[in-house]
Amino acid sequence: MLARINREEWAAMADDADIIRAKEPGVTEVIEFHKPDPYVDWIDREGVLRIEEFAFDDLLAVELGVWKRKGGKGAIINIPYESLTNDTQLVEIDPGGNSEPEHHMYEEYIYVLSGRGAASIWIDEKQKHTFEWTAGSLFTIPINASYQLFNGSGSEPARYMAVTNAPIMMRLFMNNDFIWNNPFNFTDRYSDAEDFYGGGGKLYARRVWASNFIPNVPDMPLYSWDRRGAGGINAMFEMAGNSSRAHVSEFPVGTYKKAHRHGPGANLMLLSGDAGYSLLWTKEDKSDLRKADWKVGSLVIVPSDGCYHQHFNSGSRRARYLALTPGRFGMMAPFSGAPQGADTSFEEGGYQIEYRNEDPMILDLFEEECLKHDATPVMRDFFPDRKSFKVTLPS
Ligand SMILES: [Fe+2]
Repeated sequence: MLARINREEWAAMADDADIIRAKEPGVTEVIEFHKPDPYVDWIDREGVLRIEEFAFDDLLAVELGVWKRKGGKGAIINIPYESLTNDTQLVEIDPGGNSEPEHHMYEEYIYVLSGRGAASIWIDEKQKHTFEWTAGSLFTIPINASYQLFNGSGSEPARYMAVTNAPIMMRLFMNNDFIWNNPFNFTDRYSDAEDFYGGGGKLYARRVWASNFIPNVPDMPLYSWDRRGAGGINAMFEMAGNSSRAHVSEFPVGTYKKAHRHGPGANLMLLSGDAGYSLLWTKEDKSDLRKADWKVGSLVIVPSDGCYHQHFNSGSRRARYLALTPGRFGMMAPFSGAPQGADTSFEEGGYQIEYRNEDPMILDLFEEECLKHDATPVMRDFFPDRKSFKVTLPS
């Protein structure tokens, strides 16, 4: 009969056996192997403030630390979730200041939150693109292109939000020179053509707007998009052949969008509207439900894989948001099948909850929130089978 041993004894024996196998003749000490995390090591080298939060009431009010190389102050929003492929960087360039020139093997979107200034972007120093940006501008730094940003005001700081795929790139290649000193030119992702950062673009089917510089996202024209529900309009961006994605959506007063889920890392920033919120949850019973209230300048990041999220306009004006999200083809979104299925219902094999299938508390809460803000909710038309409502709407 086998002698019974307890779990601790077994673990100790297994450890000893491993050590015996690992020891070479003459080796007296076996130490732990340390696998570096190049992304976290980079943040440490930069000495920049790290923020581990995924919902922000106002990006303009977030306190920043020192980030001299970027032109003044900054912080990196680094949610402690290892499958996150992207990060969010907040940077403020001092009045009259500028960043140091740099290039890197990761993609970067820049959305300007306040102030005005100029960007120079190049792969050949003799042929720089230089253009002016202001609050509301969105542009991209093509992968490995050199760039430098300048504050155009001598008296006001300029603050921007950058979403990059630095975490996955650094962790895949694990080599600082490859990321920061790589001579490769992506001539298919960058062009010297005069209109490359001209502020124009080209419209394609399915609401795709191809452009590398959008002067004012809060005011740009959008196009209809029925699948996400309740009269929304939208534009999908194609910028510098990026693998990471960007789009802008707007939905009318008194409406909300359908809940859905996909991989982590979608950054949603509110551009217009006066009241609203997002709901986020991962458990079917919603025991971890988080309500993130928003106003212009709020940011919500989908913090983990398969996290349901749903956006609500409970204010008296149309609400527009910018979404900066991880890669195409779902390849950088660990949740299988998404984001392709993120606007297809569960019944059809996707990852979207149709209005008719959602928890009744979603509509109840929304109608309460609308009434608080003197907005008229108009979602009951989507619930013809709903027998009773918690909220009594004024007639
Ligand atoms: Fe989403």
